[in-house]
This record gives sequence, structure tokens and C-alpha cells, in this order.
Amino acid sequence: MDRDRPIGVFDSGVGGLSILRALRAELPGEDFVYFSDAGHAPYGEKGEEFVSNRSLAIAVDLLEQHRIKGLVVACNTATAAAVHLLRARHTHLPVVGVEPALKPAASLTKTRHVAVLATRGTLSSAKFKALQDSLREHAQFSLVPCDGLAAAIEADDGPQVRALCLRYTRDVCCFGTKPGEIDTLVLGCTHYPFAAEVFRELLGPDVQLVETGEPVARQTRRLLEGQALLNPSGSGAVRFHTSGDPGALRTAAARWLSL
Ligand code: DGL
Repeated sequence: MDRDRPIGVFDSGVGGLSILRALRAELPGEDFVYFSDAGHAPYGEKGEEFVSNRSLAIAVDLLEQHRIKGLVVACNTATAAAVHLLRARHTHLPVVGVEPALKPAASLTKTRHVAVLATRGTLSSAKFKALQDSLREHAQFSLVPCDGLAAAIEADDGPQVRALCLRYTRDVCCFGTKPGEIDTLVLGCTHYPFAAEVFRELLGPDVQLVETGEPVARQTRRLLEGQALLNPSGSGAVRFHTSGDPGALRTAAARWLSL
């Protein structure tokens, strides 16, 4: 495979831009193709079969139309539903998924109590249950399915984002740094880092927010390196494609990535 080819990145919408931001910082010589499936979003409340069918179709499109050399599934919901299917179907393609950052959170928490905000699809998946089970001895995890939050972030609806962040952080008790309180919040959907300021304002400076962009970017580097596919000399270009509104995606990319 040719190392000059771009890396494909996809999400149900703008959320994957939080992963793309970290990828561009870690791999400045790579070119990227970003696909937002906003025409079929949100994924979180649509069910596993729908999300895996979309993920498989997007991967084929990125391979055939854009000749990608690697794929980053920049969506927790799509990773939970389809990363194993993508790897089985495209055995020569390096595929990186994202999962809610329970492992980093378990090592960060001092109170051993962590809240996990994610989509309903992610939290009900077998993959997530296995992850949670593997860390049971290290921390207690309070899970909050955040219906509507990714859609509100996608629509850039500030008042609705704030109202939902408030509602979902109130669903668990209680944030703080005293024994038993929740001192760590996992942003388990790639859209949620774009509401990080709201969470910080609601929860105060002592609660740690954990997201996955940087570890995913490092894992992408390792995987490409292992297959001699790293490109140190690309231009860092990003091409954007979407099944939704191209103007909205361009606005979000300008806002969050200065692109
Ligand atoms: N950004 C996606 C995730 O990480 C999904 C948001 C949605 O479409 O529901 O789970």
C-alpha cells in the first residue's frame, strides 16, 4: 500500500473532528479525508444494525473513492457496533476504533468513582460491557445515556446543549473529591469534547474530564508505523465530505480546527 495515500476518518457528524484535531497534531505530515454521516445522524439512538451497515458502507466508499491507507472510526457508537466487522472485511486495512476512556479514568480517579457519559448505543453494546467488566475492581462506573446531546452539539444549539449537560450531570450523584464522590467524568462520545467548557462550568475545576483524542492519535501512529505506512512529508491537507449539509461541516471545521 502507498504511504502517500490519505487516512480516512469518519463519524456520524462533527464529533469526529475532536479526534481529527488530535490526529493532525500527532501526525502533521499526513493527509486526511473526513466523512461526516450527518444525513443519517444521530447514530446513538438508531440501533446496532443500522450503525454497522452505515459504517461498512462508508468504509467501502472511503476505500474506493479516496484510496485511503488506514481508517479511524472516530465514533464510539460506530466502533462498538462495527469495528470487528470492518477489521474482518478489510484485513489489509489498518483500522483504529475509539472507546470511552474508562482505562485512563480508572487510573486517574482518586475517589474510585467515575461517571461515563455516552450514547445509548455505546453503553448498551457488548464491547462496552466487556470493557467495564475488565475494570470493575479498579473503580465504580456510573453510566449516563445522553439522548439528544450529540444532536444538540451537531446543531450547534447552545441553550439545548447546556440544558442537557445540566440534566445528565444531575442524573448521577454526586460530583466532588470527597470519598465516594465522582471526581472523574468520561466524555464517551466524540461530540462531547465540544461541550467541555459547559461541563467545566457546571462541575467546577476539581472534576477531571477525560476524552480519547490523544491516545487514539498515538495508536494510529503505532499502527501505521508497524506497517511502514507513515508519511512524514504530506501537506497535512484535509478533504471534507458529508451526507448532510456541507456548509455546517465547513463551519464546524473552521471553528474547532481552524481549517
Ligand atoms: N460521535 C458519536 C460517538 O462517539 C455518536 C453521536 C451520535 O451520532 O449519536 O458515539
